[in-house]
Amino acid sequence: MLKIITGDLFKTASQCLVVPVCEDKDIHSDPSVVELIQKTKPISEFHGKKEESLLLYHVEGFKAERVLYMGMGKSTGLDAEAFRMMAGKSVKKGIGNGLSDMTICAPAADATGLESETLMASIMEGACLGNHIFDAYKKEKTKKSLKTVSIFINPSIAEIFKNLPLRITNICRGTMLARDWVSMPGNDKTPDRLVRSMVKAAEKEDLSFTILDDKVMKQNGMGAIMAVGAGSRSKPRLLILDYNPYKNKKSAKDKRTIALVGKGVTFDSGGINLKPPASLDEMKMDMSGAAAVAATLITLARLNHHFRVVGVIPVVENMPSGDATRPGDIIKTYSGKTVEIGNTDAEGRLILADAMSYAIKMFKPDMMIDLATLTGACIVALGEKIAGVFSKNQKLCDDIVASGDATAERCWPMPMPDDYKSLLKSEFADINNMSSTRSGGAITAALFLSEFAEDTQWAHIDIAGPAYSKKGGDYCGPGGTGFGVRLLVDLMGKI
Ligand code: BES
Ligand code: ZN
Ligand code: ZN
Repeated sequence: MLKIITGDLFKTASQCLVVPVCEDKDIHSDPSVVELIQKTKPISEFHGKKEESLLLYHVEGFKAERVLYMGMGKSTGLDAEAFRMMAGKSVKKGIGNGLSDMTICAPAADATGLESETLMASIMEGACLGNHIFDAYKKEKTKKSLKTVSIFINPSIAEIFKNLPLRITNICRGTMLARDWVSMPGNDKTPDRLVRSMVKAAEKEDLSFTILDDKVMKQNGMGAIMAVGAGSRSKPRLLILDYNPYKNKKSAKDKRTIALVGKGVTFDSGGINLKPPASLDEMKMDMSGAAAVAATLITLARLNHHFRVVGVIPVVENMPSGDATRPGDIIKTYSGKTVEIGNTDAEGRLILADAMSYAIKMFKPDMMIDLATLTGACIVALGEKIAGVFSKNQKLCDDIVASGDATAERCWPMPMPDDYKSLLKSEFADINNMSSTRSGGAITAALFLSEFAEDTQWAHIDIAGPAYSKKGGDYCGPGGTGFGVRLLVDLMGKI
């Protein structure tokens, strides 16, 4: 769908040329694009300000049917995200107008203050992600994705970036795969069905997988996963995806193994501590960590990543019923530690505890990162667009925040003070899954998890806010956002 083109813009056949325009400076070096921008000068309603756009038809001298001018505001305020948003918005407009192709004119990188690769990649990402439509459940598919988005660039850099469209497409496919899983309704993604859908996607790539079913998990003593799944007739699963580029080789160039753990609650009703009705429908998104981890593994395999990454993905449905776990119950986790269930709605930390212990026991990872829609408290703290990062490893935390900045999947460091651990004390078991106070809920949840990280280098990312968007954004439709895939792929390339 993404393509790089060069040549004569006057003669380029396209349904729509897209020209990003700044209000204070010309950011294009191609004379034909500069000429296109000249045509807007007499038009009083367009100055290149942010949020402004202008659509002209049959501009004299150009073969393209339309030109869409997109206001970018002041050139000093440009960043990669501004270009993702511009490209996403343009593609959405194209889809709205029933087009099948668009040609985005890339500005000159030096005029934008961005590295040329960053600039190209962000335009491509915004275009590719903005072209995703989740309409699997609509009888009438009124919107159609564009078939092609071409990026018109200077011939001098076309050769350098010739592999970029494929790389960006692969990464964005990962995000879109995660979005589809998150947006899928709970009735269609019971733990078994979701895991099978993940395996189906993984099988197309060079990934090995193992599925532990409820019987095996029960035998193995995974009491926490079993306790959360007890109330649902759709039984829990544990999916392990293993990307090992050195599988059939004698020695590995990079010997590291990184474990990614993702919370997979296909629907979180709260269990016996039933949630209030508001936004209960959105609790189908409580498997967003699982979706991000599975899609990341699949993406890394497609990109031939250079070290081993394993995904450990516990998948359960949290439901109330006569078989459900009760508040006050005491369960035994895979680690041997016992947990008093203070609240059945604090289920994510329980399934993650077993999954983390399993990851450590089976793979002895050099590093472990979990992604989870863990707490409403994290949304209160950081809002709906920023994830919370919890880690005692400062370098790992900094790397995650840096990847968040690079991908605009923003992350912010949160504290894990040892003295707050006493809030999780239980009179009867080793630990309680619920804090004795309502405040600091995202922190106490992270501290609970830390009890199961042993001495493994570990970070926890609470994605409860950014994993789902009711309204959607400039390059994302309503529903799952796929948050975490671009972040983790970037991070795996950095560490
Ligand atoms: N899945 C929720 C957290 C959540 C809330 C995710 C809103 C996305 C949007 C989690 O399982 C939960 O219910 N957490 C409780 C914990 C509490 C009972 C200690 C919460 O945050 O209220
Ligand atoms: Zn819950
Ligand atoms: Zn939950």
